[in-house]
Amino acid sequence: MGLILETPRLILRNWRDDDRDLFREINRDPKVMEFFPFRRSAEEADGLMQRARAMIEETGLGLYALELKQDAEPIGFCGLSKAGLFPVLPKETMEIGWRLATRFWGNGYITEAAGALVQFGFKAKGLSEIVAFAVEANRRSTAVMERIGMHRDADGDFDHPRVPDSHPHLKRHVLYRISRPD
Ligand SMILES: CC(C)(COP(=O)(O)OP(=O)(O)OC[C@H]1O[C@@H](n2cnc3c(N)ncnc32)[C@H](O)[C@@H]1OP(=O)(O)O)[C@@H](O)C(=O)NCCC(=O)NCCS
Repeated sequence: MGLILETPRLILRNWRDDDRDLFREINRDPKVMEFFPFRRSAEEADGLMQRARAMIEETGLGLYALELKQDAEPIGFCGLSKAGLFPVLPKETMEIGWRLATRFWGNGYITEAAGALVQFGFKAKGLSEIVAFAVEANRRSTAVMERIGMHRDADGDFDHPRVPDSHPHLKRHVLYRISRPD
C-alpha cells in the first residue's frame, strides 16, 4: 500500500484511487485554502493527486497521504519535497508542507506526522536541513512549525514569487528552518 511511515495514530503512505474525494475536498474548501491564491477544480485536484503519487513512486519523497489508523480514513497530506523557489532559496532546499481536512483540525495529527517526517528526512533520507514557509497570518501552520522544533529565520522572510499581484496580502511569507542534529 505504499507505506512510508507509521506514527502512533497515523499512517503516511502513497495515494490510492479511493483517496480522490478527500483530495478534492482539501483543494476546494475555502477554510483550508484561505492562504492560497487559487482553488482547484475536481479535475485539477485529480491531476495533482496523480502527480504526487508518481513523484512518491519515483523518488520516495513528496506529499504523502495521511491515514487515520483507527478507521483507515484519509484525512489530508504531509510531505517532503523540493521547495522549488530558486533564487529565493537554493535549488536543493527541501520543504515540509501539510494540509488537513477541517473536520480533523485540533487533534495534533499534523504535529505528529510532521515531527516524524522531519526525523525520517534526516535519518532515512540523509537531509541536512528542512524548511517550511507560510503566509505570516497562517498561525495554525506556523504553530505546527514551532511545535516540531523549527526556528523562525526572520532574515529569510520573502515575497512568494508565484503569488499574483491580485493577492498582495498573500505574498509575504515567513521562513522556518530545522537542521539535522550533529
Ligand atoms: C495548518 C494545519 C494543517 C494545522 O492543523 P491543526 O489541526 O491546527 O494542527 P495539528 O494537527 O498539529 O493540531 C494542533 C491543534 O490540536 C491540539 N491538539 C490536540 N491534541 C494534540 C496532540 N496530541 N498533540 C498536539 N496538539 C494537539 C493543539 O492544541 C492544537 O489546537 P489549537 O489550534 O486549538 O491550538 C491546518 O490548519 C490546515 O490544513 N490549514 C490549511 C492548509 C494550510 O494552510 N497549510 C499550510 C500552508 S503553509
